[in-house]
Amino acid sequence: MKIAVLPGDGIGTEIVAEAVKVLKALGLSFEMESALVGGAAYEAHGHPLPEFTLKLAQAADAVLFGAVGDWKYDKLDRPLRPEQAILGLRKHLGLFANFRPAICYEQLVGASSLKPELVAGLDILIIRELTGDIYFGQPRGRRTAVDGHFPGAEEAFDTMRYSRPEIERIARVAFEAARKRSKKVTSVDKANVLETFQFWKDVVTEVGKEYPDVALDHMYVDNAAMQLVKAPKKFDVVVTGNMFGDILSDEASMLTGSIGMLPSASLNDKKQGLYEPSHGSAPDIAGKGVANPLATILSAAMMLRFSLNQEEAAARIETAVQKVLAQGLRTPDIYSEGTTQVGTAQMGDAVVKALG
Ligand code: NAD
Ligand code: IPM
Ligand code: MN
Repeated sequence: MKIAVLPGDGIGTEIVAEAVKVLKALGLSFEMESALVGGAAYEAHGHPLPEFTLKLAQAADAVLFGAVGDWKYDKLDRPLRPEQAILGLRKHLGLFANFRPAICYEQLVGASSLKPELVAGLDILIIRELTGDIYFGQPRGRRTAVDGHFPGAEEAFDTMRYSRPEIERIARVAFEAARKRSKKVTSVDKANVLETFQFWKDVVTEVGKEYPDVALDHMYVDNAAMQLVKAPKKFDVVVTGNMFGDILSDEASMLTGSIGMLPSASLNDKKQGLYEPSHGSAPDIAGKGVANPLATILSAAMMLRFSLNQEEAAARIETAVQKVLAQGLRTPDIYSEGTTQVGTAQMGDAVVKALG
């Protein structure tokens, strides 16, 4: 079992160190190899996704990824910005299916910004399409407008697009996942305005006919954003495009107590996967040893389950995380009165200890 470990920037290095600690404590035989990615790789090699890093990821069974990015790189040409590393990995590895499970652990009900009764028992799965949409659509760029409200003015443009096979395969992933849960899929779109998302809705509906045992409903993204904070437990599996999924998953993270709790798995059709927390490099708290490592540790559990066939080890990690929360240990993002505040490394150590 080969794992490529790509910590990246900011808190990426701090949280990945804790996940690696937990993986090593399992006593399984992994081959782990690390490489630079993002801003760190740009500094050392002049590119956010050097050939070596990409090859390492391609040759691995799974990639454990931290986060990339820092404000100081925002002025670089786009191909050199740290974020291009994660986008490039998704593209090159064909990681079209992004699972972002938002689970509110019993112990964290009070850490959510919503009323406890709205989030207690919450367990939703956001499935975000990850290699299409306006993120990757061509053409894009800057030019002089020839029409629109201000002909002759400087303008910028991106292209939102989805092909039928791209929608079909992510829809199947969602219906299959729903079959293993409560058999309900909500497809989120903006079909009332966008051609791309009318097509999305039509194709998801067609694929849904192959899954008569799964209930399918459709919701516009603006309403979905509202319903997620009004009555989140009405959702089960949510399937949506790349950009809407990015936004809705950050929103959903607060239902679990903190963005530091939301893991993710990005899979291709070969079960090869990249596992990363849903959050970013958090430059505002980087280097302080206070970041919550649990999203990354839970992503490592997803890696064991989805890519490495180690269900038992995955469950061990998840149980250990719940134990540590039950012990009252909290990083600052999930801290509340009556609990014990700890740092990143202490949290990782506690999870290792709780593995038993
Ligand atoms: P962010 O997710 O990094 O941070 C948002 C807020 O959440 C910050 O206040 C941060 O302190 C907090 N936060 C995030 N993770 C946390 C954790 N584990 N524990 C405690 N608090 C946590 O989003 P941002 O500030 O918009 O972006 C920062 C940089 O990260 C940007 O360069 C962005 O492009 C990049 N980014 C990268 C990824 C990725 O690598 N997959 C994902 C999102 C953002
Ligand atoms: C995420 C991040 C990325 C995205 C950025 C860093 C490219 O926000 O993984 O959610 O938008 O997909
Ligand atoms: Mn995001």
